[in-house]
Amino acid sequence: MTTEQPGSGGFPAVRPRRLRQHPVLRDLARETQVSAHDFILPLFVRPGRSIKKEIASMPGNFQLSTDRLVEEVGADRLAAAILEPVQGEGGFVVPPAAFVQGVAAYCRERGILLIADEIQTGFYRTGRRFGVEHFDVTPDLMALAKSIADGLPLAAVIGRSDLMDAIPPGGLGTTYGGNPVACAAALAVIEVLERESAGARARALGARLLERFRAWQAMWELIGDVRGLGAMVAMELVTDRRTREPAAEATNVIVAEALREGLVLVKAGAGKNIVRFLGPLAITDDELAEGLQILERAFSRVCTAVSGSR
Ligand SMILES: Cc1ncc(COP(=O)(O)O)c(C=O)c1O
Repeated sequence: MTTEQPGSGGFPAVRPRRLRQHPVLRDLARETQVSAHDFILPLFVRPGRSIKKEIASMPGNFQLSTDRLVEEVGADRLAAAILEPVQGEGGFVVPPAAFVQGVAAYCRERGILLIADEIQTGFYRTGRRFGVEHFDVTPDLMALAKSIADGLPLAAVIGRSDLMDAIPPGGLGTTYGGNPVACAAALAVIEVLERESAGARARALGARLLERFRAWQAMWELIGDVRGLGAMVAMELVTDRRTREPAAEATNVIVAEALREGLVLVKAGAGKNIVRFLGPLAITDDELAEGLQILERAFSRVCTAVSGSR
């Protein structure tokens, strides 16, 4: 049990003005290269603790973090909190329900808007239409994009009608906003996703991926963790299963090996050691099987080479 108290020095002193310059934030931005996350995640990371461990203890350190947030920023000065129901670029981190519900309750009690970033989780990728549905939480606003129009450029903000209606006519404009072709594509996509039970397809894909990835984990030490929600399934590659030291170099080699056979992978995670499934829900069983075979061959080559050189 931690004895750290808010303000006891357990957290870095983060002044809003200097937030971006803070060493913890700078390190995180460098490590993750996801500058959009700069403002939220570091408040949950204590100095000397690994990001991974802090995420694992999210509900526990949530109180400390929010207390510090109030102390440094002031809840009354916070307009909104943005949360990915399942972290995408962060490495498919599925948070405990208590964490998501804790953030939602915290925001609700203080009049802070809760914005769910469903850009990566949205449109059934987690097995439900939106990721927040898994946590029984209703956000005030949601950011949507990617799957919304099956590749045509479109993004959307949806939310409580009083918030959406607060913008006066003509108050919101963008160069490409409301493109009629992209909007028509989105309507068609939504219809097809519902008609073809995309949620069930995502869950079936996820079950297949989990089974295969776990079988590989049993074979290869390199795979330290297999996790996911719906079709958002990932493997965490480590040099040591106990310390979970990121195997960034081996991840690079796996990605390069897979690419040589035509399988494009995009690694993720703060340690650049997460291999994730980012296939479309419309992938056929044959395409999935082919992709998995390529990936298995890549692991087999890399893992055999490593154990052979020991
Ligand atoms: C969770 C999440 N939010 C936001 C974005 C950025 O979306 P856009 O390129 O539509 O601005 C991405 C892009 O990868 C994302 O994964």
